[in-house]
Amino acid sequence: VKKVTVNSILEMKATVEKISVLTVYDYTMASILDAAGVDILLVGDSAANVMAGYDTTLPITLDQMIYHAQSVSRAIKRALLVVDLPFGTYQGNPYDALNAAVRVMKETGAQALKLEGGIEIKEALRLIINAGIPVMGHLGLTPQSVNAFGGFGLRATGVQEAHKLNSDAQLLHELGCFSVVLEKIPAKLAKEVTDHLRIPTIGIGAGPHTDGQVLVLQDLLGMNKNFKPKFVRQYLNLDTLITEAVQQYITDVKTVNFPNDKESY
Ligand code: KIV
Ligand code: NA
Repeated sequence: VKKVTVNSILEMKATVEKISVLTVYDYTMASILDAAGVDILLVGDSAANVMAGYDTTLPITLDQMIYHAQSVSRAIKRALLVVDLPFGTYQGNPYDALNAAVRVMKETGAQALKLEGGIEIKEALRLIINAGIPVMGHLGLTPQSVNAFGGFGLRATGVQEAHKLNSDAQLLHELGCFSVVLEKIPAKLAKEVTDHLRIPTIGIGAGPHTDGQVLVLQDLLGMNKNFKPKFVRQYLNLDTLITEAVQQYITDVKTVNFPNDKESY
């Protein structure tokens, strides 16, 4: 199989082929998704929510992100592997940000990193990109800033924030980011940004006009009954399927239906 590279992702925008992206945090799921042919696998800091049960992405550590990324990396044969830098590792001293970035690249086999924000993290982006590390930007609803936003609501509905998002997107492009995630912004604004950039935009809750789409895997699979924002399409109801399978197992154990003779030595 031919490995997806940052260049092939850029090429997809040029040839108008939409880019499929999913989050993943473990080896087993990553093996399945990679074989299924998804273009980019993102070890998102949403692992803090999905894997660890936190309400926000803030608590996950660099070591924990590296553990998830190593697990995913062992499974990948084709997809481009992108890893989130977690909260606190790149918002301060840009040289600390570079050190965190280098650690992830050295220890995980990641091909690129994702950082949230625009002009605020300009120096960190410059150092990381100059070190030869491809970077995916992330604008709009940037969950590491949830406490500043006061929630996970739609972003950039006003003129000022839309203007800032446009200029941040342009800046990320100029700094050399190879793509940018646009999260939970009006579809019209996402189209505008997408039309003005030569690097691909990857949308989540950003409408159909972005160059690609990303979803959290467990949302797509329907593993959380209590989380159904309208930007998620549930392709499976895995919560129900798992519940039914596990209840059947419990019954089989209780009734000594499992294991049978063929399943015994
Ligand atoms: O951590 C994550 O899952 C993400 C994607 C939703 C873009 O950053
Ligand atoms: Na993230």
